Parts: sequence; C-alpha cells; structure tokens
Amino acid sequence: MTTEEGSGPELDSLRGAFVVLGVTGGIAAYKAVEVCRRLVDAGAHVAPVLTEAAVRFIGPATFSALASEPAQTVLVGGAEPIPHTRLGRQADLVVVAPATARLIGEYAQGISRDLLVATLLATRAPVLCCPAMHAEMWEHPAVQHNLDVLRARGVHVLAPNRGRLAGGDVGMGRLAEPDQIVAAAAAVLARNSVAGERLDGVAHPDRPSGDLTGLHVLVTAGGTREPIDAVRYIANRSSGRQGHALAEDARDRGASVTLVSAAELAPPDGVHYVRVATAAELAEAVLARAEACDVIVMAAAVADFRPAAPKASKLSKRDGIPELVLEPTQDVLAELGRRRRPGQLLVGFAAETADLEARARAKLAAKDLDLIVANDVSVPGVGFGHETNAVTLIDRAGNELPVPMAPKRKIAAAVWDAVVGLRASLGVTEPSRGGDE
Ligand code: CTP
Repeated sequence: MTTEEGSGPELDSLRGAFVVLGVTGGIAAYKAVEVCRRLVDAGAHVAPVLTEAAVRFIGPATFSALASEPAQTVLVGGAEPIPHTRLGRQADLVVVAPATARLIGEYAQGISRDLLVATLLATRAPVLCCPAMHAEMWEHPAVQHNLDVLRARGVHVLAPNRGRLAGGDVGMGRLAEPDQIVAAAAAVLARNSVAGERLDGVAHPDRPSGDLTGLHVLVTAGGTREPIDAVRYIANRSSGRQGHALAEDARDRGASVTLVSAAELAPPDGVHYVRVATAAELAEAVLARAEACDVIVMAAAVADFRPAAPKASKLSKRDGIPELVLEPTQDVLAELGRRRRPGQLLVGFAAETADLEARARAKLAAKDLDLIVANDVSVPGVGFGHETNAVTLIDRAGNELPVPMAPKRKIAAAVWDAVVGLRASLGVTEPSRGGDE
C-alpha cells in the first residue's frame, strides 16, 4: 500500500487537528521524523513528545524544526510546568510511533514514568499505537497481552510489518511505513469525528473507511489436532483457508482482527495472530478474549472428541493395539452463546454432508447464534481443503441467503456483508465495550 505524499482527500481529517506525536527509543525512531513531516504537510498541528531513550536515537532539534511546536522530552523541569495535561486536553489524536514494548507495557499498566505515558493517561483523545520491536519481543505473550488490554480500552493498534529488522534479522516487528501511519491516523480522526467518541480497533490503511472500522472481531480457523501420543494425533480435513480469508477481509474492511488459528498457513499481515493446536488451547484463547469482541466468527473445525489419556511417549506396536478412549471437548461456540454480551454477534459454521439447512438451523438455535454459515462438504469443490466454497447463510430470524461457489475470500465478503446487515437491523451502530482485562 502506498499513499501519495501531500494532502489528498483521504488525509482531510488531519487538517487543523492537534496531533501529539509520541516517539520512543527504538531504531525505527528515525521514521517518526517522516511521520512528523507528513502530518504537518497534511495540515495538522504536531506536538512531538520524545522519551529519554528516543533522544538517544534522534535529536529533539530535528522534530522541533519540522513540527508545529518545540519537541518536549521531560515531565518535570521543562519549559512548561505541567505539559502532559495541556497536551492531553488539546490533543485530537495521539500517535505513538514507534511504540516499544516498554511503552506498551507501562501504558497498559498505567505506570506514568515519563511525559509520554503521562500524556497518554491524561488524554481522552483517540490513540494510535504503532509498535516496532524484534519479532521475538512482538510475539512474546506479555507484549501481546498488553496490546489486548489496550485494544479492549479502545486504543488503535497499527500492527508492524514483516521485513528487515535491526541487526539484519527478518521477521514481524518492523514499524509500519510513514504513509501507512499517516493514513491510519487520518482514518482514526475521520471515524472519530463521525462517531464523536473513542473507538475500538485498527483502521487498516488500505481501506480506512471500511464498514467494519472500529469493530474488534475474533475469527477462528483451521482444524484442531488432538494428541494420541508423542507423534500421533486425531485431526480433520480443515485447511483453515476460509477462516484466514475471513480475517483478511475483516482487516481490509477496517476491523481490528484477532485470528485464533490451528491452520498450517502463514499468519496474515495486520492481524493479531494467536496460534493454537488443540481444542483446549483454542477454547482458552477464544474465551479469554471474547468479552472485548464485537463479533466472533467460529470458522474453526474444532474436534468434538479427544483421547482421554494421551501418552507422553510414542506408542509401539510391541505394546499391542492401543485402546483409544475418547472424551468430549468443550463446545466453545455454545459457551460463547451462554456468555454473550448485549450487542455482541456470534457466527457459527455447520459443515454437513446431509440435511444441510435443517441441521444448520438446529445448531443456530442450540448455540444461540446470530448467523450460521452452512456448507455441504460432500459437494466437490466445497469446504475442507478447497480454494472455493459454496454456503448458505441462515440468520436468527430464519432468513436464508445462498452464496454460490466462489473463492473463499468472496464467501468471506458475503459473511461480513451479512454481519454488517445484522448489526444495522439490530440497531447496533457503535462498537460495544468489552470490560478491561
Ligand atoms: N464448535 C465449537 N466447539 C466445539 C465444536 C464445534 O466451537 N467443540 C463450533 C465450530 O467452530 C462451528 C460450530 O461449532 O462453528 C459447529 O460445529 P459442528 O462440529 O459442526 O457442530 P456440532 O455442534 O459439534 O454438531 P455435530 O458434530 O453433531 O454435527
């Protein structure tokens, strides 16, 4: 994605906006200079706030020369007696780029040790957080947990790109490019001025005004694997492609997306990716995050049964034919139906080989869903393992919409169209609020 430099109509919302630009101490701090320049070019008033560590990478004089007011670096002892409250109140938007793991952690915990975190805690303006760090740090559960906490509070997180990192490594964690950051900032402001309040979610810069902007959606994908012994497992034919296509389409329509995936597929860019293997891991990952989500789509083929006593070692023929005792797994979707918050939408899948509509309707009712995506997996080219799918969408009111055979991304678009329609018909026009974790 690239955005032309300057101030095209897609950046209009930045004109006259007061933007606090927070810069932390990462190697990507140099890119913040370009972000600053582009925000100013788009007509924003930019107030830079640099952390002590940022100053080791890039000098405040550079920002002061480009920005609308001098860069500030300290909470106490600077030119202003209490800069954080003035900046927090005046801000229409706070952008933190790059945001280090330290900043994300202290912001999530409310630990105000410097001017930037103090300003973030003192503001009611929307916040766009643009993380940058090494792939190992980005993937660490502590960092991802802190980002989940921030997302649940309405902070917009612009996920890093995959690419070359400091020290020559390649991986996820490279700061989003300045044009992506500026486009996301403009999208947050545009959306915020319409909604008049803070919103959940990331506005993906490719489609900043998408119809899922501001929503936090969770999608599951793939078939779970239930261990029998150290090397064998019970699995199913699900490839995870439909779930990944759902996550990608939601991302491109502006949603903040969490993808809990048991698939052997590469994680899509720009989504919060949680890799799981078993039904129990999937249940834990989904149920821990469910409350903060506006829409949950359970596209995963979750095992209904698992070996009751998997062996830690490899079973051998010498031991004779093993007796496999199975026990039921938790039905995650049924549990979500029981825990559902007002305004939250639940979408299930029903992969059937006979009596498609009747069985799908029964599952919709039994699991208290808003929408079920029914597919007849006995038809060639449909469902498991294929690039294409053909489904019937059935909603709570009994409406049925057949979606003929198409690539999975097209099927995903039809599902999100139905979700948007259902939200409108239920009168849910704003993202619902999950409780803070
Ligand atoms: N599902 C789930 N947890 C499970 C099993 C299924 O959340 N342990 C979800 C699937 O992700 C899917 C929906 O429930 O969205 C339907 O799953 P399916 O296995 O087809 O339905 P079941 O209710 O298990 O019925 P049956 O196996 O009898 O067809």
